[in-house]
Amino acid sequence: MTLLEFDPFEDTLRDNPYPTYRRYREAGSVHPGRTGQPGRLGETWYVFDYRVCVEGLKSPQFGRAGLYDHQRANTTEPSVLDSILLIDPPDHTRLRRLVSLAFTPRAVERALPRLEVLAHEVVDELAGRPTWDVIGDFAFPFPVTVISDLLGVPIEDRRQIRQWSRALTAGIDVTQDPETYRQARDANQAFRIYLRDILRQRRTQPQDDLLTALIQAQEAGDRLSEDELITMVTLLVVAGHETTVNLIGNGLWALWQHPAQWDHVRSAGLTEIGVDELLRYDSSVQATSRLALSPVEMGDAVIPVGSVAIFLLGAANHDPTVFVDPDDLNLARMPNRHLAFGGGIHTCLGSALARAEGRVAINTLFRRYPHLHLQEDAPTWRPGLAFRGLESVQATT
Ligand code: HEM
Repeated sequence: MTLLEFDPFEDTLRDNPYPTYRRYREAGSVHPGRTGQPGRLGETWYVFDYRVCVEGLKSPQFGRAGLYDHQRANTTEPSVLDSILLIDPPDHTRLRRLVSLAFTPRAVERALPRLEVLAHEVVDELAGRPTWDVIGDFAFPFPVTVISDLLGVPIEDRRQIRQWSRALTAGIDVTQDPETYRQARDANQAFRIYLRDILRQRRTQPQDDLLTALIQAQEAGDRLSEDELITMVTLLVVAGHETTVNLIGNGLWALWQHPAQWDHVRSAGLTEIGVDELLRYDSSVQATSRLALSPVEMGDAVIPVGSVAIFLLGAANHDPTVFVDPDDLNLARMPNRHLAFGGGIHTCLGSALARAEGRVAINTLFRRYPHLHLQEDAPTWRPGLAFRGLESVQATT
């Protein structure tokens, strides 16, 4: 095994990262590389192998706290960097428990009819337009409409929330410039002021929504401070937005590249197994990171304490020792234990909701537009290592 030097800024990664991942994986399961985060010092290690990813994501030798300290140093305002996404137990356990009930498969099942209504509403807005952008006009508004509806955020504010969410998401990717981080800080500040206001209203006028439930948990003495509550809501919006946009966008694009599967889904619908294959085939979150709390042996390397391990979920999901013909799109693939939602204690809290949103979005689109046609030959992929998604894809109906 040879240790190579991985460069997360390598040009070829943007259009199609999988051949590059394969090249590194064939040389070894773990490689050192350039750090993706400006201001972060110390070593960064990239994990390409499925089994090593699974072990590492579960390992208590890794933590999340401290990963973004270089960014936090510029502001005293709490933010998504203080959320459950980036803290360790016991606070992680306490805070995650408070929201997990709202996102169980059963809770999502109950929400399905509402998701369908919301998907139709988003499609209604496209009426009469001969061409539109699948990403900007459909995939982007749908998840933010869903989470805003669940939380109980007024419908007229959703456009603004989309903009804040986009800026905040860019701020947690690993290959961004200082200007992106500045915009994320501004968005965070504005979003927190907005949420504080809404929470004040909900305290006097409770409703049947997630914001009210979180306030009631706080008031029942669940040791949730107002700052923690606002941070949690910010995270729910951010974590579930662009990730789901990209599931819908990458999923539709993958189907479009495979005409027989496009036709099949258009007539028979996307199944639960099918949505998992879309999540695996071109994962919307390509990487998640951890900090080594003690020296960790992984593959042929020992990750020193204080170093960052970046688990390349997209690479793991194309590991041929786990997935037969990993570069093929197989909507009937079973078993399909992909890592699109990460692993260990930080495994995506919203995975059941995300899967449901992906299915409802794609099925509603095909139902409403059976002659949907994508117009691009080579669409532009957005920059960044952690999130993979398209800028825009024009469609005709
Ligand atoms: C296709 C859509 C989605 C994908 C691919 C995705 C993926 C991920 C990944 C990879 C992680 C980090 C896991 C780790 O580091 O091990 C994560 C965390 C998280 N996700 Fe998702 N996610 C999606 C949608 C959602 C939705 C809809 C929500 C909720 C509204 C959500 C809420 C969260 C939360 C709260 C965390 C932090 C969990 C923790 O740290 O304990 N996600 N997600």
